[in-house]
Amino acid sequence: MPLAISPMASASSFRQLPPFLAALLCAIAMATTSSAATVPAAGRRGPIGTNGKNYTKVCDPARFASLGLDMSRFRYCDASLPYGDRVRDLVGQLTLDEKVSNLGDRADGAPRVGLPHYRWWGEALHGVSDVGPWGTWFGDVVPGATSFPLVITTAASFNETLWRSVGAAVSTEIRAMYNLGHAELTYWSPNINVVRDPRWGRASETPGEDPFLVGRYAVNFVRGMQDIVVSGAGDGHSGEDPFSRPIKVSSCCKHFTAYDVDAWFDADRLTFDAEVQERDMVETFERPFEMCIREGDASCVMCSYNRVNGVPACADARLLSETVRNQWQLHGYIVSDCDSVRVMVRDAKWLNFTGVEATAASMKAGLDLDCGMFWEGVKDFFTTYGVDAVRQGKIKEADVDNALANVYTTLMRLGFFDGMPEFESLGAKDVCSEDHMELAADAARQGMVLLKNDAKRLPLDPKRINSVSLVGLLQHINATDVMLGDYRGTPCRVVTPYNAIRKMVNSTNVHACDNGACDTAGGLGRAAKTAKISDATIVIAGLNMSVEKESNDREDLLLPWNQTSWINAVAEASPYPIVLVIMSAGGVDVSFAQNNSKIGAIVWAGYPGEEGGTAIADVLFGKHNPGGRLPLTWYKNEYVNQIPMTSMALRPDAALGYPGRTYKFYSGPSVLYPFGHGLSYTTFTYTSTTTTGATVTIPIAAWEHCKLLTYKPGAAPSPSPACPALNVASHRCDESVSFAVTVRNSGGVAGDHVVPVYTSPPAEVGDAPIKQLVAFRRVFVPAGGAVEVPFTLNVCKDLAIVEETAYTVVPSGASTVIVGDDGLALSFKVTIHLAV
Ligand SMILES: *[C@@H]1O[C@H](CO)[C@@H](O)[C@H](O)[C@H]1NC(C)=O
Ligand SMILES: *[C@@H]1O[C@H](CO)[C@@H](O)[C@H](O)[C@H]1NC(C)=O
Ligand SMILES: *[C@@H]1O[C@H](CO)[C@@H](O)[C@H](O)[C@H]1NC(C)=O
Ligand SMILES: *[C@@H]1O[C@H](CO)[C@@H](O)[C@H](O)[C@H]1NC(C)=O
Ligand SMILES: *[C@@H]1O[C@H](CO)[C@@H](O)[C@H](O)[C@H]1NC(C)=O
Ligand SMILES: *[C@@H]1O[C@H](CO)[C@@H](O)[C@H](O)[C@H]1NC(C)=O
Ligand SMILES: *[C@@H]1O[C@H](CO)[C@@H](O)[C@H](O)[C@H]1NC(C)=O
Ligand SMILES: *[C@@H]1O[C@H](CO)[C@@H](O)[C@H](O)[C@H]1NC(C)=O
Repeated sequence: MPLAISPMASASSFRQLPPFLAALLCAIAMATTSSAATVPAAGRRGPIGTNGKNYTKVCDPARFASLGLDMSRFRYCDASLPYGDRVRDLVGQLTLDEKVSNLGDRADGAPRVGLPHYRWWGEALHGVSDVGPWGTWFGDVVPGATSFPLVITTAASFNETLWRSVGAAVSTEIRAMYNLGHAELTYWSPNINVVRDPRWGRASETPGEDPFLVGRYAVNFVRGMQDIVVSGAGDGHSGEDPFSRPIKVSSCCKHFTAYDVDAWFDADRLTFDAEVQERDMVETFERPFEMCIREGDASCVMCSYNRVNGVPACADARLLSETVRNQWQLHGYIVSDCDSVRVMVRDAKWLNFTGVEATAASMKAGLDLDCGMFWEGVKDFFTTYGVDAVRQGKIKEADVDNALANVYTTLMRLGFFDGMPEFESLGAKDVCSEDHMELAADAARQGMVLLKNDAKRLPLDPKRINSVSLVGLLQHINATDVMLGDYRGTPCRVVTPYNAIRKMVNSTNVHACDNGACDTAGGLGRAAKTAKISDATIVIAGLNMSVEKESNDREDLLLPWNQTSWINAVAEASPYPIVLVIMSAGGVDVSFAQNNSKIGAIVWAGYPGEEGGTAIADVLFGKHNPGGRLPLTWYKNEYVNQIPMTSMALRPDAALGYPGRTYKFYSGPSVLYPFGHGLSYTTFTYTSTTTTGATVTIPIAAWEHCKLLTYKPGAAPSPSPACPALNVASHRCDESVSFAVTVRNSGGVAGDHVVPVYTSPPAEVGDAPIKQLVAFRRVFVPAGGAVEVPFTLNVCKDLAIVEETAYTVVPSGASTVIVGDDGLALSFKVTIHLAV
């Protein structure tokens, strides 16, 4: 994909070298120059209509007049009526053919009644993207948009305010682009599937392996994208009719559900049938979606390609209608992943369905809109087969009406028909603004994770370090592409690690290991020589999208392309312990580096987006004290031999020899860095006066039925408790436990610190998570200072477990609350007494 990158000093300095020298030692000592930014000219307003649009709202009398229509004759444009009435009028005006032509992502509209076409497909995973046909595009007045770090990096900040701010900045850029005719208003982000397996190719797109963390990311990102006024709190509804609540941009929780196998050996997402137990559905796969809908009030859910227990997710009435729409109360529309309906026929060959049958089954299950590509001359299935499905009596025309009502209500809420004055002044100056680029840099800084720092190798002191050597593949050193990851747009600019690092020191020596330049004895010798001539050596290594990407799962967790061998050689040659920076989404088995005392420090930079170089340099040279934490477990490579990627179960399975998945269930020896790991340049200590433990007595009312608990073999209490466990679904759930932790910064520098809170059920309970994240807070603590961090845990939400029966229950007995990670931990008991 072509990138609009400004000319950078680094580019020309590399280019001046003869090509054969480019891969060899190039000692480049240059004066610092600031890298220029290609920011779209401020305030320029492009002609409306650059994507075929010459209007900013549908219900404009002049627009109707230009179509030869009198707007006052169309009740759907009467702003004094409730949305429900207007949508009914609009749908009622349409013929069956017109209706069906609007059930696909490329909706035709109905010029006869003044309804314009609409491109539903938008992507904004980590900034406005132009992936998807025609809806969003870059060029002329909007050459690019802010490219934030990939989600896995932003998630590593554990900072909910940041997640909300990123969502709000992205939706501001979308609104600005919409005003300029460069974008639509519906975006299929965020991706909130949990990273159940470390090999999953799409880890970069997600907030990691923990369902609660993923859910909180979803709630905040969606609130940032959708809410007109983004406030720090308020995850509920404010009393207004949720089907009329105005939204800034429509955000979509995807991919529902149990989707996290892309392409792994013979397994392919298009044909994969995820065998999932109901307990894992409730506890892991559905939880982020439930939070995204209930607490984030997302206006869209996307169903996934795979089948779940035999039934395609997009044709499963129990998942779509019963769970998403009825139980969780979705206020919005359900869209298919692109081609999910076709996939039932073409790939999964489900029930030997025809196109008409797949269309009917999906729509009846609750799917409203079909995203589909052109394939063998056939576009999406709904618009292709919808009319026949009605004519053949496989669905009612009222089913079509209902689907359209869901999609048009969403467009009404977006102001597509009436405009949205709050955002009409946004223009080119609001895309790639200094504020947004700084937010992108801040997100990358907050997401940097310090994995190892022996003998305080980091930060490098710029006052004492005159020269650094940079060794690695150019794609990582001079990263104009790798840092942007998938679902990118065109970035405003890219600040590479090389560009940012060389601003910190007087001279930078680069040795590029491309094209085998470090794989021979001679090449290694030259790499080693580079390390010898500087005051510090930084190796930037890692993965790229050929290793981990959508439709491309990993087979191992190792560093590819022989990087390990030359990293070790460079470390061996360097007079000082080297610094290793890893770019990746999933965990990489860097035990060789963790073990090697000549590798003094390891930083995980994730895929840090367009400002990534700045963030990396700020961390390496101490302008920012890293506070990020791993949002997923980093396993040693041997883990991949212990369990196939296609096994969906989270718990260990003794019969099959599977060890369990994620920090919640894996207790084996193959962890390199645990979930939540992340060091700092300073040291923190915890104290608490309120953590001596608590007992909560919960009276069980007459209508409540106690549930049984699974106990560890031989651990069942005797006599067995009168009420072993409380069924959360039948309880009012207003019991809570409050405590506060004082975080003291006992080191010499200010820093951010993430306080995680986990709970674990009573020791006798069997088959339960080892611990589970229930709260977290990132705080800033000045050097020598202290901050008190209060928490209130709701007993039903935070001390509950999901039983084998798939009931969510609070076990009686002494649960443990654990505060902290990495050996810095406080814990106390909360004893639950269920009184019958
Ligand atoms: C480094 O990146 C720039 C873009 O910033 C590119 O033009 C240049 O060719 C790259 N250098 C090398 C040697 O690949
Ligand atoms: C808008 O464009 C359409 C064609 O796409 C044209 O028929 C119509 O006259 C234009 N309306 C205005 C107000 O310029
Ligand atoms: C699908 O059709 C094939 C070939 O006609 C047949 O063998 C198979 O049993 C059918 N499968 C189902 C689920 O009906
Ligand atoms: C960098 O170069 C300047 C000018 O030559 C010099 O004054 C300064 O001390 C150097 N910095 C370091 C860290 O050596
Ligand atoms: C990796 O590097 C070593 C030298 O360290 C070399 O012997 C080997 O051939 C290289 N392997 C590949 C696959 O390039
Ligand atoms: C990833 O890096 C490898 C090794 O340098 C290279 O062959 C491949 O083209 C890169 N892939 C992408 C998507 O950049
Ligand atoms: C790391 O060190 C341990 C203990 O010294 C050793 O058993 C292990 O093989 C080493 N691993 C690597 C990858 O060097
Ligand atoms: C969290 O992110 C927000 C928004 O970027 C930032 O202002 C705040 O300082 C961050 N909090 C901490 C403790 O780093």
